[in-house]
Amino acid sequence: MPEPAIHKAAAPVIVIGAGHAGVAVAAGLRTRGYGGRILLVDAQTELPYERPPLSKELLKPGAPEQPVPLRKQKYYEDRGLERIAGLTVTGIDRADRSVLLSDGTRREYHRLVIATGARARPLTVPGADLGNVLALRTYDAAARLKRALVPGARVAIIGAGYIGMEVAAAAATAGCDTTVLEFQDRVMSRVTSAPVSHFFERLHEAHGVRFVFGAAVTAVEGSGRAERVVTSDGTAYPADVVVAGIGVLPNQDLAEAAGLDCRDGILVDEHCRTSDPLIYAAGDATRFTGGFDGASQRLECIQSALAQAELVAGDIAGGPARAAEVPWFWTVQHGVRLQTAGVRHPGDEVVLRGDPADGKFSVAYLRHGRLAAVDTVAGLADFRPAKKLIADKALINPAAAADPAVPLTDAVLAPAALAAAIR
Ligand code: APR
Repeated sequence: MPEPAIHKAAAPVIVIGAGHAGVAVAAGLRTRGYGGRILLVDAQTELPYERPPLSKELLKPGAPEQPVPLRKQKYYEDRGLERIAGLTVTGIDRADRSVLLSDGTRREYHRLVIATGARARPLTVPGADLGNVLALRTYDAAARLKRALVPGARVAIIGAGYIGMEVAAAAATAGCDTTVLEFQDRVMSRVTSAPVSHFFERLHEAHGVRFVFGAAVTAVEGSGRAERVVTSDGTAYPADVVVAGIGVLPNQDLAEAAGLDCRDGILVDEHCRTSDPLIYAAGDATRFTGGFDGASQRLECIQSALAQAELVAGDIAGGPARAAEVPWFWTVQHGVRLQTAGVRHPGDEVVLRGDPADGKFSVAYLRHGRLAAVDTVAGLADFRPAKKLIADKALINPAAAADPAVPLTDAVLAPAALAAAIR
């Protein structure tokens, strides 16, 4: 494709936020031949970087202590993607089609894209502001945590979600005395079912991680720095470092202040347009309607951020639209990969495929008889067929699906031709 001529004069597309979504919007615009100016406004000064390694590879002993850039500097230069780093957007003036920056300057936009992501939900108990109480969303926090993960260090982790569990694995591997305090009765309860939770609990316990369930943290105590975490029953858990992994909140404040519709996320339609036709939003900050299942949902997931970025780029620059994809998620703990296709609901029928005691199995989730999600543990054989079957809303025979020797595609309750076509 010939390089698009970049027209300097007109107002640029301004992208607020340079995470996975923001950078992908900018890149996608150029890929589609968009020739106007593109401005990426990013609060961080370093080159935009990958976030998944922050709670995974980076925490491993001996791993290089630097962020993994999403794109090299030259990538931005070659494509004329202008970065304003170290500044934030403090306001959006929709009538004037401009944004106000933290240095007091104002920039007009042709189109605006809000890709502000999500922030770690803050721990709000007394003592949560002590210096060694960390959340894990930025490279700096991850680097600080890594320095604290020394043999014998007492690590108290609040929350047994993806972040808490990945940090627990890293801490235990580094030889730390690791305790996870979770207020639900099992790990990763937001994202998975009991069999998968129990499998990962046992895996972590075998590596020395201690779990406390039903734990309501009431305070972090210590003089000058956190020394213990206290729960509602009065128990104090000694700690040299505390990590809170208690979920995320969408960064929708700017959008809200500008009068855009928000409801636990910036509301966007199937083209990722907000309630202002000149303003788009993409990534973790959004609540998206129009995915493959038409549900309105806020997804914390890179694949969905990238898909939304494509929609934005396509809507602004034109070109073919990509079909909505089934979202997927992954985590790795103690070397065991949990990879999920689709979004499970708590009321789904749970069909276990295989025996967790074998160290490898999957779980199919059926909603009104149709495949809605699949968790694969330590093996990806079911993953690709599951994505296709979920997209096709395939009716599944639970008894057949419960036999791991039967390929998922053979458990489809549909004309044989359909089953053969998706194999
Ligand atoms: N005390 C104890 N546990 C708590 C508290 C609390 N005050 N508040 C929340 N929790 C628990 C929840 O019950 C849940 O199990 O914290 C866990 C949070 O899990 P997630 O919602 O998965 O959030 P987190 O692990 O922080 O991951 C956030 O980061 O890995 C990325 O995008 C990925 O969605 C993921 C996001």
